[in-house]
Amino acid sequence: MSARRPLIAGNWKMHKTVAEAEAFIQRLLPLVYASDAADVVICPPFTALAAMVDSARGSRVQVYAQNMHHAPAGAFTGEISAAMLTEIDVDGVILGHSERRELCGETDRAVALKLAAALDAGLEPILCVGETEAEREQGETERKLRHQVQEGLSKIGAERLPEVAIAYEPIWAIGTGKVAEPEQAQDAAAFIRALVAGRSPEQAQRLRILYGGSVTPENATDLLALPDIDGALVGGASLDADAFAAIVGVAS
Ligand code: 13P
Repeated sequence: MSARRPLIAGNWKMHKTVAEAEAFIQRLLPLVYASDAADVVICPPFTALAAMVDSARGSRVQVYAQNMHHAPAGAFTGEISAAMLTEIDVDGVILGHSERRELCGETDRAVALKLAAALDAGLEPILCVGETEAEREQGETERKLRHQVQEGLSKIGAERLPEVAIAYEPIWAIGTGKVAEPEQAQDAAAFIRALVAGRSPEQAQRLRILYGGSVTPENATDLLALPDIDGALVGGASLDADAFAAIVGVAS
């Protein structure tokens, strides 16, 4: 683990009603109470954000949304703006998750606009990038990452780079139980850091890079020990407070 402060974020995706989220947070808070060496984030669905902000207030747990629209307001049915998130004291937002890119047609350009809007609103963004299995097999991983990272960061100044966390999530590892080999995760994270260093070598050393894709309490130790991996974006294992707390424990 590097000098960068570890960040462990749980992406609940479309899971948990408000009642289920409340039960989770009541179980989680005492488990992570003493883990002060890592930042702990939960990313509930929109409907549970306000309740989780209230329940986590005064604790070490921060609350992020899973998506937002870049525009301040407008005729965008079903969308949520940055101001709607900050009004209820949400701390940050996941942007460009592969599920939104694949299932909702989210483009690099849209993600870049969202990233700039999130930072302008004072939200801490997690920019998600990663290749498909076919892209990896065809030797296209670096080309894909270069495109996603450079495009995604294209609308912010270099001085703001350390406020962004980048999650490397190989799509073939998401929800499959097929976690990346430590060497694959490290190589991708180092490549991403080198891309950011192309904008600013100093800021690249401060920006946090997370790994995501089938992270569990069992494999977290090896992944979080990698020099360029500064945390994890956890899907399935973040739905269980004990498993999520165990990953936080590894990080801290
Ligand atoms: P899993 O941990 O369930 O593979 O999901 C990873 C992910 O997509 C987090 O954003």
